[in-house]
Amino acid sequence: MPTVTNRELIARLSAVVGERHCLTDADLRASFETDWTRRFAGTALAVIRPGSTEEVAAAVAACADARAGVVPQGGNTGLVGGSVPRGGEVVLSLRRLNSVAEVDPAAGEVTVGAGATLATVQDAARAAGWEFGVDLGARDSATIGGMVATNAGGAHVVRHGSMRAQLLGFEAVLADGTILSRMPGMAKDNTGYDLGGLLAGSEGTLAVITRVRLRLVPPLGYSTVAVVGYADAASAVAAAFELRRTLASVLALELFTDAGLELIMRHTGAARPFAVPMPVYLLVEVASAEGDPTEALVAALGAMGGDSAALATDAAGRHRLWQLRERHTEVVNAEGVPHKLDVSVPGPRFAELVEGAPLAVSAAAPGARTIVYGHVGDGNLHVNVLGPPPDDERADDAVLNLVLELGGSVSAEHGIGVAKVAWLVRDRGAETVAAMRALKAAWDPLGIMNPGVLFAR
Ligand code: FAD
Ligand code: MLT
Ligand code: ZN
Repeated sequence: MPTVTNRELIARLSAVVGERHCLTDADLRASFETDWTRRFAGTALAVIRPGSTEEVAAAVAACADARAGVVPQGGNTGLVGGSVPRGGEVVLSLRRLNSVAEVDPAAGEVTVGAGATLATVQDAARAAGWEFGVDLGARDSATIGGMVATNAGGAHVVRHGSMRAQLLGFEAVLADGTILSRMPGMAKDNTGYDLGGLLAGSEGTLAVITRVRLRLVPPLGYSTVAVVGYADAASAVAAAFELRRTLASVLALELFTDAGLELIMRHTGAARPFAVPMPVYLLVEVASAEGDPTEALVAALGAMGGDSAALATDAAGRHRLWQLRERHTEVVNAEGVPHKLDVSVPGPRFAELVEGAPLAVSAAAPGARTIVYGHVGDGNLHVNVLGPPPDDERADDAVLNLVLELGGSVSAEHGIGVAKVAWLVRDRGAETVAAMRALKAAWDPLGIMNPGVLFAR
């Protein structure tokens, strides 16, 4: 049994990180205690802001001695409630570990601190003549550590893969304070288990990620964005998969509907991409280093017969079209506290999900509003439900049941967090979850790492 009191733990943490980086005052803790959607919130014993890997290690060891829960937190942009306390844990904010070492221009690799934001890493890569392969709308706040911990996806997965695919090395602090480091700077490294790969998607339940080595991708100089309207989801989805099959230059394939576009126009003042409203929109970006991919895109779209289209090759025009998709998260949040269901299904079932999710929600929660959008190229739909109170899960259950009926996954890119704990066994099966729990028990025998996330306590 622990013999360390809360007061003693706070004193020890304060000695490790310095008094001004150990926040116990309610006002100072507040922004770390509520998630981006405002659906999930809790009270922390303290929020600590270590400035080095050694401080992270000493802080985690102190929490282990006190049997205190540790909630690692990066940019707090996660959408499944895993980044905020449930009650009485220590929130360990990684934002001060924001170093970005020089890009290795020959290898196309960079080593960054867990607290570096995505935008910082993208800028550093560009300045060195490279690009980072992952992009998402929360780029100014989301941290690389959080993105590895959630195995974040985003808009370019169809071309470059998700965070796990960018990971070439890692440094992490285990639940007893041990520091593990493997930063080989090599594309190939088959020396036993891929522990970095295991940490990708672990959601802070196994270890605290403190630094990572990332692969970069060559820049794609030419880029064109088109938004095309379709009469129904099936036509839009068929077009998306045909473009993915026929155009090697595809960088992004995104889908949204007129209900979402209406919200974007109302909240941001953006204009329609073309005069006639259409039920479903496909956004496609093609990009190439070899030459302008516009002609091939226009030919492919023409052959498939979209109803209306807008096209942009200049940076401002591309940005304007992207805003119509990217700002969905923000405008949905402006309408209320959303239930966010990030799911994926096999490609041939995607249109059924787009059409079926709003119907499932209406049946389960009459009067609720459903806004769908997503990364159609990856079979990933974001189902956003507005109306039901935060703890009324009838609509969530209806959508997730539909997803399982369609052979899909209850989490495509945001993770399980606390939002979908009850669904992990139903999705993955008891045997697989038992194997996951065995890993958890081996890495975190005291159960202090993000308790309540991924598994019920
Ligand atoms: P947090 O929110 O702080 O934490 C997320 C999880 O990771 C928590 O479980 C936390 O405990 C754990 N964690 C954080 N840092 C560490 C660490 N250093 N070590 C161990 N565990 C850690 N996600 C996508 O996948 N694709 C998108 O397109 C996308 N778009 C978004 C757009 C907007 C506007 C917003 C608000 C969010 C979006 N997200 C998207 C969700 C979110 O940005 C990602 O989940 C991101 O990876 C979270 O990073 P973070 O630094 O904010 O992590
Ligand atoms: C997106 O693709 O826009 C993000 O994953 C965020 C969201 O689901 O709202
Ligand atoms: Zn997404």
